[in-house]
Amino acid sequence: MNVSLPYIAEAVNSIPKNITFPAVIVFGDSLVDTGNNNYIKTIAKANYLPYGKDFMGGKPTGRFSNGKVPSDLLVEELGIKPLLPAYLDPTLTAQDLITGVNFASGGAGYDPLTSDIASVLSLSKQLELFKDYIIKLKRIAGEERTSTILRETPIILVFGSNDITNTYYGGPLRKSHYDISSYVGLLGSYASSFVQDLYKLGARRIGVFGLPPLGCLPSQRTLKGGAERECVELYNQAAQLFNDKLSVELNSVNSRFPDARMIYIDIYNHPLDLIQNPNKYGFRTANKGCCGSGTIEVAFLCKYTCSNVSEYIFWDSFHPTEKAYRLLVQQILQQYVNNFI
Ligand SMILES: *[C@@H]1O[C@H](CO)[C@@H](O)[C@H](O)[C@H]1NC(C)=O
Ligand SMILES: *[C@@H]1O[C@H](CO)[C@@H](O)[C@H](O)[C@H]1NC(C)=O
Repeated sequence: MNVSLPYIAEAVNSIPKNITFPAVIVFGDSLVDTGNNNYIKTIAKANYLPYGKDFMGGKPTGRFSNGKVPSDLLVEELGIKPLLPAYLDPTLTAQDLITGVNFASGGAGYDPLTSDIASVLSLSKQLELFKDYIIKLKRIAGEERTSTILRETPIILVFGSNDITNTYYGGPLRKSHYDISSYVGLLGSYASSFVQDLYKLGARRIGVFGLPPLGCLPSQRTLKGGAERECVELYNQAAQLFNDKLSVELNSVNSRFPDARMIYIDIYNHPLDLIQNPNKYGFRTANKGCCGSGTIEVAFLCKYTCSNVSEYIFWDSFHPTEKAYRLLVQQILQQYVNNFI
C-alpha cells in the first residue's frame, strides 16, 4: 500500500515525486518518543502541561516538546499520516500498524545501563516489541505484504544522547571503566548489532541518527559551560567521536549486506549552524529553553513557559521546539531521502 507524497513535493522539491514509502518505524529516546512512556512505570514522562502546549490545541501526550517530535514530522513530511503513534498505545488500529509505529522511549540509550537507570524501554525491549509487532502485522496484512512493508519502510534509530550526557558524564559507573573513546566504541557496537538484528527480521532501509552538538544543549551549558554558559567543547567532541564511530560501523555492516541501505544521518552540522546563527533561521534564543528559566528544567521541573515559543530553538533545557524539529526533519529528508531508494 504505497502513499504519494503531497507534503514533500511542496516542501522539499529536490525529492523525486515518485518515491513512496509504505510506513515509517522508529526506535529511540525522548527525541522521538510519542507516548510509550505513558504506559510504563518511570519518572521519564511528559504527559502533563506545558508539554504539548501547542499540540492539537494544547494536549499533553508524552511527547517531550511543545508540539510534534521528529518521528511525527517524518511521517507528516513524507505524506504518510499526521502522527506516528506509540506502539504501547492500546487504541492502535490495524491501519496504524500498517503505516508504521514508534517503539521509542524517553530516557533510553544504546547502553543497557542507560535504559536501566531510567526504567524505560531498553534496546532489547524495543526489539522484542518490534517482533511482537511483526506477528500482528502478519495477521493483519499477510506474510507477503508484511515482508514488503518491512523491506520498503525506512526504519529510524535515534539513541545516544542519554548515554553520553547522563550515563557517561553524569555518573561514575561507566567513566571508571572506559575512556570516552572506548565508551563510544561500545555504543557503536550496540548500534551495529541492533541494525543486524533488524536486518535479520527483514528490514532493508535503516537510517541511524548521529548525535547533535550535545555540549550546546542548554542543560549542559548550565552544568559545564562556565559563567557565560558557552557550549561545552568536551561534550561536542564526544558527540563527534561517537558520530565518526557510528558511521564507520554502519558502512562496515552495509558492505556485508549489499541488498540493504544502512545510512548514517548527520544531525550535528546543521543543528550547530542553527544554534550559532539562530536569527538566520527565524529564531532569537539558542542557549536557553522556553520552559522555566530555560537553563536546567526538564520534565516535571518544567512548569511555566516563555511568552513566545517561536523565538526558541529549545523547548526545555534538553529538547528542541517543534519549529526547530521541523527544520531539522526537512533538512534530513532533503539530504538523505534519495539514499533510501
Ligand atoms: C522516479 O522517476 C525518475 C525520473 O523520471 C526515474 O529515473 C526513477 O527510476 C523513478 N524511480 C522510481 C522508484 O520509480
Ligand atoms: C513570536 O516570534 C516570532 C519569531 O521571532 C515572530 O515572528 C512573531 O511575530 C512573534 N509573535 C509575537 C506575538 O510576538
